[in-house]
Order: sequence, then C-alpha cells, then structure tokens
Amino acid sequence: MANNGNSNLHMSRAEKLDEFYTQISMIEDELKYYKKHFFGKVVFCNCDDPAESNFWKYFQLNFYKLGLKKLISTHFEENNSSYKLEITGGEDENGQMRIPGYVTTPLVENGDFRSPECVEIMKEADIIVTNPPFSLFREFVALLVDLKKEFLIVGRGTATTYKEILPLFLDGKLWLGRNSGHFWFRVPDYYEEKKTDFKIDENGVKWRRMGNICWFTNLDYKERHEDIILFKNYNPSEYPKYDNYDAIDVNEVKNIPCDYYGVMGVPTTFLSKWNPEQFEILGSSRYHDGSWESNDINFINGKGKFTRILIRRIPQNEYRNE
Ligand SMILES: C[S@@+](CC[C@H](N)C(=O)[O-])C[C@H]1O[C@@H](n2cnc3c(N)ncnc32)[C@H](O)[C@@H]1O
Repeated sequence: MANNGNSNLHMSRAEKLDEFYTQISMIEDELKYYKKHFFGKVVFCNCDDPAESNFWKYFQLNFYKLGLKKLISTHFEENNSSYKLEITGGEDENGQMRIPGYVTTPLVENGDFRSPECVEIMKEADIIVTNPPFSLFREFVALLVDLKKEFLIVGRGTATTYKEILPLFLDGKLWLGRNSGHFWFRVPDYYEEKKTDFKIDENGVKWRRMGNICWFTNLDYKERHEDIILFKNYNPSEYPKYDNYDAIDVNEVKNIPCDYYGVMGVPTTFLSKWNPEQFEILGSSRYHDGSWESNDINFINGKGKFTRILIRRIPQNEYRNE
C-alpha cells in the first residue's frame, strides 16, 4: 500500500513530464559559445540537484577556466525542505584569490524556484543556467525577464510560439541558442517504458529522446549574427500568398527567397537560424495583428499550414558586410 501511494506520487510527477536530466555533452556543446559572458559572474543553477546535475558538474569543473565569482545550485524536493550548494571564488578582502569552498545551506522551503528564498538567490545571481521544468516554462521565463537576469535555459521548441514567449523575440529580450533538435535525457526509474525514443542502457538507466529541444537565452553569441545563406528567387507561383493575409508562404527555411521584401510566413525552425540583422520578426500566423484573439492566417486555398513565424527582410542587409 505504501508503494501505491508512492507510485501515485510518481505518476503525477511523470504526467507533468518534468524529470529530464541533461547530459554533460549537451551542456558543453552549447556553453562553449558563451564563455566570455561568465567572467566574474555569479551563476545560479536552480531546478537542479547538485548531487547529480551535469550543470553543476560543468560549472564546478570549469569554475577557474570561466573565472566565475560564485556558483549556486538549489535542489527541488517536491514534499520536503531542501538545500542550496555554493562555491565561492574570486578575490577576498585582501585582493587574494580565494580557495573555492563548498557551502551547503538548508533552505526553509522546498527549492521551488518561485519561493521567496529562491527568488532572492536569483536576484543575487548574474546568469541563470538550467533546464527548468517544462510544465512551468512560461512562469520561469517570466520571472527571469521580470528580474532582468541573463539566462541560458533548455526548453521545448513549441514554447517559441507561446503567447508569453513570442513577444520576447519581437522585443529582442530572448532568442534561441546555437544548438537545437533531438536530445537524449536520463529519466527516473519510475518513468514508463516507451516503444520509441526510449532506451535502457547497460547500467539499467532509463533514457528518453526528446525532439524539438532548444536553448533559450539573452546572451549574445557570434554565430547568431551570421546570415542564413539563401539562393532562391521569388516567383509568385512557387510562393503563394495566404488567403486573407498579405504574406507569402515559405515551406522551408532554406527556400526563403533572397529578393522578397514583403512579409513571409516561415516554419518555426527559422528561429534557430535567425540573424536579427538579416530579418525582423513580426509575429506568427496566430499573432499577426498585435492580438492573441485573432484567427490563424496560415491558410492557402482553404488548406491550413503549420504554425508560421512572420518575418521581413531588413533591406540594408546586402550592403552590411561590404
Ligand atoms: C527538466 S528537469 C532538469 C533537471 C536538471 N536541471 C537537469 O537539467 O538535469 C527539471 C527539474 O525541475 C524540478 N522542478 C519541478 N518543479 C519545480 C519547481 N516548482 N521549482 C524548482 N524545480 C522544480 C523537477 O523536479 C526537475 O528535476
């Protein structure tokens, strides 16, 4: 019976699909683009478990290399009070490099990122780096933006068109990181086995592969200023307009015509290649007139297309790199 209760608890957590543990390779492959941002900074990895987290491991291993001032992690315990773990480096009051020491401090609450004590830690931090719970992604980003924090976090690509998230792209407050696509995440033992995108490794550890995973950030990196290389020319027969909206439909990012200056509807994968000096983002096939109450406009001859991002080429672009 006790087991029963436990599995019910686990089931409700599993249903939220929040327990996906990030691999160190995924963290390394992304973090290498942002090294200059971390010097002298306080990094906070919340929604984490420093005993096992690869975010903690990555920053701990690279503490000196990145020149961090402090690393903080908080662990989330659904039904118990939890703790924070810190490493402090930098110079002491006499200008000497500190020998980093580990300090564990109990939290009053359970490490919920919304709890007052975790919000205080966020305020103290310069950069938040983590894979937050997918089910609370909107709230997590809202808090980061509200506190004007720098961040680099993992999320699902579907979040890009959420009404709480898309406007942040338009306002230049958020963009996608360098890597996106399918990634394997370790999952807890109690996660159900699946026929696809699931494996148990030689150590009996369960893994699930998630598609359309992205990094969301407001840290700049060089590669996001590189143009998408385009080679197709506009012609009306290949690029039909939407039934009730003055924009052409482009079915693949690589097919964006290089000589069209009107509004274009492009697949959401555009966002992972977006150079803000090449194109401006105007909205989406839902958010096209400044309102989320409007109907989708992605119809051609009555047939609905996938969600589209509305973009327009920035005209000076041809001369920019000369
Ligand atoms: C996607 S997992 C990632 C875990 C870890 N950051 C990693 O990348 O390996 C999200 C974690 O957030 C935790 N979590 C769920 N709700 C939370 C909340 N309200 N506050 C803080 N953490 C939460 C979950 O228990 C889960 O371990």
